[in-house]
Amino acid sequence: MSHFGSYDDRAANFSWSIAEKELEYTPGGVINIGWYCTDRICENGSGDKKALIWEGTGAQSKSYTYNELRVATNTIGAFLRNLGIQPEDRVCLFMDRIPELYLGFLGVLKIGAVAQPLFSAFGEESLFVRLDDARTRAIITQRKHVGKIRKIIDQMPYLEFIIIVDHDRKKELREREIPFWLDDARPVEMLDVHPTKAESPSVLHYTSGTTGRPKGVQHVHYSLISQYLTTKWVLDIQENDIYWCTADPGWVTGTSYGIIGPFAMGATQCVQDIGFSAENWYRWIEKQKVTVWYSAPTAIRSLMKAGDAIVKKFDLSSLRHLASVGEPLNAEAVIWSQRVYGLPFHDTYWQTETGSIVISNFPGMKIKPGSMGRAFPGVTSAILDLKSYEPITEPGRVGLIALRPDWPALMRGYWKNPETYAKKFVNGWYLPGDRSSIDKEGYFWFAGRDDDIINTAGHLVSPFEVESALLEHPAVAESAVVAKPDDVNMEVVKAFVTLKPGFEPTDDLELDIMNFIRKKLSSLAMPQEIEYVESLPKTRSGKIMRRLLRAQEWGEEIGDVSTLEND
Ligand code: PRX
Repeated sequence: MSHFGSYDDRAANFSWSIAEKELEYTPGGVINIGWYCTDRICENGSGDKKALIWEGTGAQSKSYTYNELRVATNTIGAFLRNLGIQPEDRVCLFMDRIPELYLGFLGVLKIGAVAQPLFSAFGEESLFVRLDDARTRAIITQRKHVGKIRKIIDQMPYLEFIIIVDHDRKKELREREIPFWLDDARPVEMLDVHPTKAESPSVLHYTSGTTGRPKGVQHVHYSLISQYLTTKWVLDIQENDIYWCTADPGWVTGTSYGIIGPFAMGATQCVQDIGFSAENWYRWIEKQKVTVWYSAPTAIRSLMKAGDAIVKKFDLSSLRHLASVGEPLNAEAVIWSQRVYGLPFHDTYWQTETGSIVISNFPGMKIKPGSMGRAFPGVTSAILDLKSYEPITEPGRVGLIALRPDWPALMRGYWKNPETYAKKFVNGWYLPGDRSSIDKEGYFWFAGRDDDIINTAGHLVSPFEVESALLEHPAVAESAVVAKPDDVNMEVVKAFVTLKPGFEPTDDLELDIMNFIRKKLSSLAMPQEIEYVESLPKTRSGKIMRRLLRAQEWGEEIGDVSTLEND
């Protein structure tokens, strides 16, 4: 049993003011995530506690106490402020998982600017679309990624500063490029943290849409209230824990629970930028004596594949609590982890838009392997009928997940896209766009997405983006992109194409198309397979029926095609 009591106990007396009181936040007052994650922990006497333990490639390592975290984030904040960065300006963080990414994120928030993390593996097109949409004023990056920015810089007059944290002094800087070496900068002991309020913008994360460009999901400083309490209750982080979140801060898990939640709790967390292998991950847990581990189903399935024997080579006895997010966590994975680690993975469900965990299993709750758990206390939920949007009362029937939009971390909008944002709300409910059923005990059983977005290894891929890239190839007449099943990644991207007259469906052409789109897409969005077809199934209005192709791939019933044709 958990030291916190049961789900029902927690739910019965629940109010978000629990978090407000613990954080000593007065409604209407100042709330700055950067300050909460650093200065406040020091003021409470934990300045000497380890905040971040980092290891990179080539045996590089660094660690920061909370006081060092406070000063480093001040130093970055002051540097940006001196450049003229204003509150609400977007500052992009485009780095591998190096300390400057974590410190920079908090430094940006401390001066009231908006942190825009982007996955460092993005190619120039993916990067451009997101910087252009956000009209980003500064980007903090590493020299290994500067080449991608140089290719698109001429199209971005608004991007005034390219800050390189590891600039090689022997190399020339180009226009707008500025070096910043944190270790050489004069430490800024005192910084006037910008007095952001609950609704001040904080983080802008980009997520894939089905039909258009990626959407900028806008969060505010008040999200801290949910992020703090879910970190405490769901991830169960306690005073002496060593926490490891395997997610990259280019994605929301890596910020909400890889930066904000754990640091606001004054936890010690470790980060490694070495890459995945079962051996490497187990060695890391053993070395750091990780106690709380937050990971994702694809990684867990890869660890299952690596087998049981390798687990015994390492001392993993420090582990105390395991949690997972991002994709469906199969029942087998939960049962397997119970058997090999002696601990089950606790599934958690949420999205970039929800900002914090909204459905989960936490200590003190009975785990039903294969279920995402129950709505977090303070999150009112229902399952709505797919057509009428009326709440479904009978247990077990699949419908749309619906949440009352009143928990602190829910997004406040899609950047410059109020129409798409408005579509996420129906009859006073926020619709995440996923299907599920609820059983008699209030447990959610995930049943799939309600749109065509592909979730491959936990990364959302827009079929539209891949199709658009394919259509730019001179041989491609039409394309349709869907998910196909995969043992480890759950889903992978598959493309169907029809060819223009005069082109032959050869292997060489497939390779040529693959090479062509690789330059346009991030590696995560690349199709595993291209299938040539004579024609694509379409509605009478000419819309391609991805659902039919997807059903074929999954060996599912195609259903009533006549209704689909009238879509
Ligand atoms: O479809 C759901 C799936 O991932 C989507 C959110 O993706 P993203 O915004 O990238 O955020 C991922 C990390 C918070 C959801 O709409 N998803 C997330 N968690 C689960 C899940 N699907 C099944 N089970 C989960 N636990």
